[in-house]
Amino acid sequence: MKINEKLIFARAYEQAVSPTIPREIRPVFHLTPWMGWMNDPNGFSYYHGQYHLFYQYNPYDVEWDAMHWGHAVSHDLLHWTYLPCAMAPDENYDSFGVFSGSAIELRDGRQLLMYTGVRKEGNIKTSKDVQVQCIAIGDGLDYQKIDANPVLDASCLPEGKSVNDFRDPRIWREEDGTYRCIIATCDKDRTGCILLFSSDDCFSWQYEGILAENDGRLGKMWECPEIFPMDGKTVLFVSPQDMLPEGFEYHNGNGTVCLIGEYDKQQKRFIPESDQAIDYGIDFYAPQTILTPDGRRVMIGWMQNWDTCKLAFYEERKWFGQMSVPRELSILNGRLYQQPIRELALYRSKKVEYQDVSVDGELTLAGIEGRVTELDMRIRAEDPDSSYHKFIFRFAQNDQYYSMLIYRPDEELLQIDRKFSGSRRAFIHQRRCQVPEKNGELHLHVILDRFSVEVFINDGEKVMTATIMTDTDARGISFLSEGKVRMDITKYSLFEEE
Ligand code: FRU
Repeated sequence: MKINEKLIFARAYEQAVSPTIPREIRPVFHLTPWMGWMNDPNGFSYYHGQYHLFYQYNPYDVEWDAMHWGHAVSHDLLHWTYLPCAMAPDENYDSFGVFSGSAIELRDGRQLLMYTGVRKEGNIKTSKDVQVQCIAIGDGLDYQKIDANPVLDASCLPEGKSVNDFRDPRIWREEDGTYRCIIATCDKDRTGCILLFSSDDCFSWQYEGILAENDGRLGKMWECPEIFPMDGKTVLFVSPQDMLPEGFEYHNGNGTVCLIGEYDKQQKRFIPESDQAIDYGIDFYAPQTILTPDGRRVMIGWMQNWDTCKLAFYEERKWFGQMSVPRELSILNGRLYQQPIRELALYRSKKVEYQDVSVDGELTLAGIEGRVTELDMRIRAEDPDSSYHKFIFRFAQNDQYYSMLIYRPDEELLQIDRKFSGSRRAFIHQRRCQVPEKNGELHLHVILDRFSVEVFINDGEKVMTATIMTDTDARGISFLSEGKVRMDITKYSLFEEE
């Protein structure tokens, strides 16, 4: 196998630098780049007996630049082993970067990666991306870009669609053995759409039509499309840029949208029946999914947001970017539900439980603390006939810092707030989402790792995710109420960390 110089260099750099990054400065079970920068999950797949997760990767710096594909493998999606960098931007057609894409196992057992190759065209002032689709074939460790690259370029695009924004192929095999792939692009005014392509052999591709279009409501360009069947429906995920908020459903900037509907194979169209945000917190983008060998649909997203990337450490910056906890998906009452992957329960220890505790003012509870922790809380008014005003859950707390969830039952709003988490940057630190009580209760399932919080609300009906860079000795947890509240709480340490 021919391996280009740039990839050899990146792999040697990884060998030299990785021993200098101590385990303790990373999250415990959320994947970070081996070194440097990470964005989107790529090529999420189960191949030859283990899970593979590639990622958008700049090994040389904690900033986005010269995208490579990083690579890690796992048996349980919670413990990851780094493998050498899978691809570098080392060909003319991908000299500016190997952008996002997906993976599939070919019938002969080889793994195929389909990705977007980007090069720059024009002079410094007029320079624009040229985005094309490319293929690399490998064995789970080494990947060879094929000579026929690019396999899709401007000549395959329908009239009016932009070759400057033509990216993020998501590939799958149909029941008849032929292949399909969807790719994001946009019109001149940057309104996004998703194109459908087909292939008999996975190497030579034909344009089939427009699978789905942005009607102008959900942002502009749609990035990173993801499509899969689930619970009798077809689900399409997109990550729109330049979104406008709609009440509490979407927020400004880079968002994530789950469209649930039907895929009409004859018409080659996806017909959406509903749309919703995938995550209502601050940091979640560009998710991919897999079907596990035991039939679960599991999603991982980039636990970050392009608008808040500067939330970083001030010293010792050795990595930037985390993946979310893997989440099991389902559809219930026409909505997307998410639960943290059930394997997480295998790593619980030190259970602490309180039933029907009264919260009236400020409260701490013996044994309820920690930064690598799982908490399950049920919160209700002490007097079912008169509601309380406000309930606050503080975590990652010490004398100086804390982050919090604030619930106001009258307004049916849950707020995540990391303003006091130690950030010295002036960007979004709060988000709110609409959460009515369910059977007179608010149910919060909170997953804390060293540098993140993921909140599964009312059995996974909504999720709010945020990164926090608070010093790891801020381990306190406390509760505050305005009005009388009753709470059941169960807490576990995770991975015997504390
Ligand atoms: C989404 C994205 C993709 C692109 C990649 C580049 O976060 O912008 O559309 O392929 O990141 O790193």
